Amino acid sequence: MEMNVITRPDIRFTRRVREMQISPTLAVMNRAIELTAQGVDVVDLGPGEPDFPTPESVCAAGKRAIDQGLTKYTSGNGTKALRDALAGRYNRRYGTSLAAENVIAGTGGKQELFNITLALVDEGDEVIIPSPYWVSFPDQVLFAGGKPVFAKTDARNGFRPTLEDIEAVASSRTRGVIINSPNNPTGAVIAEQELRRIVEWCASRDAFLMFDETYEFFVYEGSKHVSAVRWFEEYPSTIIGVNSMSKTFAMTGWRLGYAVAHRDVIAAAGKIQSHSTSNPSSISQAAALEALGGGEDEVQRMWEAYRERRAWLIPAINAIDGLRCDNTDGAFYIFPDVSSFFGGRIRDSQSFADYLLDEARVAVVPGSAFGSDDHVRISYATSLERLKEGVARIESALSKLG
Ligand SMILES: Cc1ncc(COP(=O)(O)O)c(C=O)c1O
Repeated sequence: MEMNVITRPDIRFTRRVREMQISPTLAVMNRAIELTAQGVDVVDLGPGEPDFPTPESVCAAGKRAIDQGLTKYTSGNGTKALRDALAGRYNRRYGTSLAAENVIAGTGGKQELFNITLALVDEGDEVIIPSPYWVSFPDQVLFAGGKPVFAKTDARNGFRPTLEDIEAVASSRTRGVIINSPNNPTGAVIAEQELRRIVEWCASRDAFLMFDETYEFFVYEGSKHVSAVRWFEEYPSTIIGVNSMSKTFAMTGWRLGYAVAHRDVIAAAGKIQSHSTSNPSSISQAAALEALGGGEDEVQRMWEAYRERRAWLIPAINAIDGLRCDNTDGAFYIFPDVSSFFGGRIRDSQSFADYLLDEARVAVVPGSAFGSDDHVRISYATSLERLKEGVARIESALSKLG
């Protein structure tokens, strides 16, 4: 895989960048894009973004912002109007009393995860990350000089993290825990009671809990999303909520995410942001304000499409000899176990993904990217028709392995 590509002897790179890996999800996407550009019909089940367009009303708000001249710097943490709207949304949903000073908007949720990690993690601090994990969490911790410590979750428990998983790897150096629910790549949705236990445990040890709810709207089949932010009033110096417009409102390219936390944590993140990107795009902020005000009908339509695809996809994958997919509840990914194919030509999740791309012209992401080499990630952020085509190709290619 195309990782740690920095090999030039004549340029001296820092430890920080040498230790960093190129996002492996991007590496797969790049190969699929290359093949597609050569005219190959690739069924791309790799995407980490909605296949829907940004809602029209949101695009119109962006265009209006340009016409109205909202094309200048805004305050560094985002406009007061946007931060008020975001705080108000949490307050309505969870009875919190967040104010604009508890909110920072930035260039994607990714940036706020990064800012807050840089603000809270010192050299040598350990940060517990349930595994499988989203690719950027460990690299961000490493970049800050900390040490990611993985708490392995159990596929038989639908990959839901438990307090016991976390406690098993805790030490006196534990500085914080990062929970992502619904989870990328597994789709796991943490239950309310378990999350509450983890929050209390973090608070009792003076550890932070960074709660990434980027996929909050995408939960299915009676499962319920629970946000750690609902306990913010009780644990204001523990809980950090990170969220994004990207997946919910199909706004990945607008680069607008946000975090809510104690005002001092937000001030620290704001300090870092002020010296890096400053405010997120003024145009995207105006569009986000529109989405928050009225974009939820569109979100509902996207949710229905994801639900329908998932309901078809999980049994279809389980019907293929040798694949096993546990029933996880959220996001737009499934994470089937492919390890029964290991041996001979296929040795690991990477060679499995390579085989599918070569033989079936189907792109999936190897689980090694997310800390689990027995699995691959399949995204259903693609039409049902293409999903059906992809699954038929996978079945045919795997049957050749005998
Ligand atoms: C779990 C998770 N968190 C955060 C992000 C960041 O999204 P963005 O920076 O587009 O807001 C992603 C994007 O893939 C994600 O999957």
